[in-house]
Amino acid sequence: MKVLLLGSGGREHALAWKMAQSSILEDLFIAPGNAGTRKHGQNVNLSPNDFEGIKTFVKEKNIDIIVVGPEDPLVNGIADFFENQEDVDVAVIGPKKEAALLEGSKDFAKEFMKRHNIPTAKYQTFTKDTIEDGYSFLESLKAPYVLKADGLAAGKGVLIIDNLSEAKRELKSMLADAKFGDASSRVVIEEFLDGIELSCFVITDGDSYKILPEAKDYKRIGEGDKGLNTGGMGAISPVPFASPTFLDKIENQIIIPTIKGLKNDGIEYNGFIFFGLINVKNEPYVIEYNCRLGDPETEVVLPRLKSDLLDLFEGVASKTLSERDVVFNDKSAATVMMVSGGYPEKYERGKQIYGLNEITDSIVFHAGTIADGPVVKTNGGRVLAVTSYGKNVEDALNKSYNSIQKISFEGAYYRKDIGFDVL
Ligand code: AMP
Ligand code: GLY
Repeated sequence: MKVLLLGSGGREHALAWKMAQSSILEDLFIAPGNAGTRKHGQNVNLSPNDFEGIKTFVKEKNIDIIVVGPEDPLVNGIADFFENQEDVDVAVIGPKKEAALLEGSKDFAKEFMKRHNIPTAKYQTFTKDTIEDGYSFLESLKAPYVLKADGLAAGKGVLIIDNLSEAKRELKSMLADAKFGDASSRVVIEEFLDGIELSCFVITDGDSYKILPEAKDYKRIGEGDKGLNTGGMGAISPVPFASPTFLDKIENQIIIPTIKGLKNDGIEYNGFIFFGLINVKNEPYVIEYNCRLGDPETEVVLPRLKSDLLDLFEGVASKTLSERDVVFNDKSAATVMMVSGGYPEKYERGKQIYGLNEITDSIVFHAGTIADGPVVKTNGGRVLAVTSYGKNVEDALNKSYNSIQKISFEGAYYRKDIGFDVL
């Protein structure tokens, strides 16, 4: 099979690494990829949002499958685009625009959950014209207040605010002053759920689904999960508090109603569904849906997958996923992100990375890196995801932290407490 993978982060390096192990892979191209993905295929200088450019490439190389890593090509309609091309026959792994609204619109996702009785926080949605109702709704809730821009806001559109008058000010700034541009022309206000978060992943062909290993990510820049939000600073899998009973609840109360709900609403869905969940007194609730895999969760989920990922993708493309097996290995995995100094605010790029060839106990997934001949340099905020296997999560974490000691670049930072809250 000839595959084009879109994206350039740690998630995409992990996808490339996993697909490269498939017995049915003929050719792998990654657009645009990074210094890590080039070890598993050929990087191509194309933007994931340049659909015409991708089409030309797909025709030239006879690509069979496009695997979409990040959400924006999906939300921008890459699956719809290729469905409507008469002169090219390629499967896109990822939902169409309408289905990607599960991630692209918080209001759409909340309406969907309400309609299908899927447990989630109570909410209401407001616009510029109903801002006064928004103030009243805030008054009816207890602190902290959760305000969410309806649309995609580069992961920054969710505000959690302790104080009522500040929450009202922020609501006004989102709705009336377009704080997040068009993304905050509608704002979802919801009840705060107090619990511990985890991520679950499903692959589906629209009829059947397969559950992948669960994971927990660490979103804040600082230790103790303090400070600014990031794309994710580390992840572990399995999640110690996700007992078989709890995982059953997730499947029965959330995953099955979601798959059935999509079908009942006439929404065709193929690809990954990422369930951002929270455990409140042993009951799972949905915080958010994403239409893609998580990053850095993928860097611990795929290493635990024994099955051939390309075989699963073929099952999605041919709607025969029910005939495939998903088998995990019984190892634990942990990943720790090394980031550029200053991230998630201003940081510099182009710092040479040392020590990558000395790592024997971990898999180093590249995120923001670029090759400069034989030299690898930093090229983003999140630079490397250092993943290790272990007999348990603690053992895996120890290996990652030992490996990190051997890697260096100017300004490198990482959290030293990944996984500690659940061990
Ligand atoms: P989202 O983009 O919807 O995942 O929100 C970003 C983060 O805000 C989540 O990962 C949670 O940590 C937090 N969050 C969102 N909604 C809630 C809620 N209703 N209660 C508590 N925390 C929330
Ligand atoms: N790590 C969270 C995400 O990928 O959205």
